Amino acid sequence: MDTPAIVIDNGTGFTKMGFSGNIDPSIMIPSTIAESMETSDLIVSKVQFNDYDYFIGEEALKNSSTHKLTYVLNGGMIENWEQMEKYWHKSIFEYLRADPEEHYMVLTEPPMNTPENREQMAEIMFETFGVPGLFIGVQAVLALYAGVYASVDKSENIQGKDLTGTVVDSGDGVTHVIPIVHGYPISNNIKHIPIAGRDITKFVSDSLKTRKEKIPASDLREVSRIIKESNCYCAPDILKEHKKYDEKIKDPETGKWKQSKKFKKVSMTSPYSGKRIKCDLGYEAFMAPEVFFHPEFVNADYRESLDEIVDMAIVKSPLDNRLDLYKNIVLSGGSTLFKNFDKRLEQEVRRRVKGRYEALGIPENTPEVKVSQNVVQQAAVWFGGSMLADNKENFAGIVSTKEQYEEVGPSIARHNPVFSI
Ligand SMILES: Nc1ncnc2c1ncn2[C@@H]1O[C@H](COP(=O)(O)OP(=O)(O)OP(=O)(O)O)[C@@H](O)[C@H]1O
Ligand SMILES: [Mg+2]
Repeated sequence: MDTPAIVIDNGTGFTKMGFSGNIDPSIMIPSTIAESMETSDLIVSKVQFNDYDYFIGEEALKNSSTHKLTYVLNGGMIENWEQMEKYWHKSIFEYLRADPEEHYMVLTEPPMNTPENREQMAEIMFETFGVPGLFIGVQAVLALYAGVYASVDKSENIQGKDLTGTVVDSGDGVTHVIPIVHGYPISNNIKHIPIAGRDITKFVSDSLKTRKEKIPASDLREVSRIIKESNCYCAPDILKEHKKYDEKIKDPETGKWKQSKKFKKVSMTSPYSGKRIKCDLGYEAFMAPEVFFHPEFVNADYRESLDEIVDMAIVKSPLDNRLDLYKNIVLSGGSTLFKNFDKRLEQEVRRRVKGRYEALGIPENTPEVKVSQNVVQQAAVWFGGSMLADNKENFAGIVSTKEQYEEVGPSIARHNPVFSI
């Protein structure tokens, strides 16, 4: 195929879509659908989609007072296929303005997606949209591919690069830790923690609510998300950080004691209602991302911190690969973008590993721990898909074609094809 492939990464919070060969997705919109109240429960035939009264993305949020608003995915998984099909329909025809019969399609899936889901994806793509070929990539593997690609010089050949590393993919709905050895996820060591961007936003909104900041209830979620994205950060030591906020400073003019400079006045326009919002931001600036390291702050039943999960995922991997897995911890997803997230995770994992080797009496053997940031981190999964499909020769070997689908049926997508680059 001479045309670029369509690459769509449907995340729990945001869908990233665009064409292969590009560095960034051309469109990034919430994975929301708003369906007309009267018709949302009706089974509607595929051909009627164009006239059918529904919206996706920001348009869906804007129409949520007159329509029924739903997030199409739950914890990274597609649950409602009818809605997913509608979402893809508008994504391809209206947002990308592409004819799906003329482009290979790259979709992504969470690490433990079921074979049934893969088959269903294939059936919809081949039969409803008539794509000439489909590749479904595991999100973490694509993110690792992206990390490797972003770190090499453009002139270097990525083909021979070894794909071994530990991917921490934290989006809106779920955080996965996946050790990958030579391109293959070690499937029984994939771990997840039920904490991601949505929980951190909720932490911020709960704090603002408790402090009785003047934010209309309907704006609170979106406003908290934006405050979080532009202000929250990871501190190396929360007790010390608390002290900085507790310090009072004397105003030289009035002689009065004031709150520390750490408190910030935030002023913004709510994307939801268009209202001007003003509020103070305090401890939540560093306490919200802290939930990765102290999940019990938001979930009384869950106590394993992210660093513990990363360490466990590597410790349980084959001995021969552990050094490489500690040395190449790759970040992916919007919720890894907090300032100093990489440093804090590295510090905590290193502390654990060091403690263990010291207890064993061989501190000199402590493996190197390296968490790396990369420029494509936010849409790493999408970028990995884009680069993979851009390498046409290699891609031709892993894409399932329409002819193969017609011969074999949906089970063509049952197993993940060999992921080799
Ligand atoms: N600069 C930022 N700092 C912190 N969080 C951010 C930043 N930018 C985006 N986010 C958060 O990242 C999340 C979206 O990330 P991403 O697009 O990777 O998730 P997703 O793919 O939709 O979800 P998932 O992978 O869990 O299915 C949202 O919670 C968003 O608020
Ligand atoms: Mg994602």
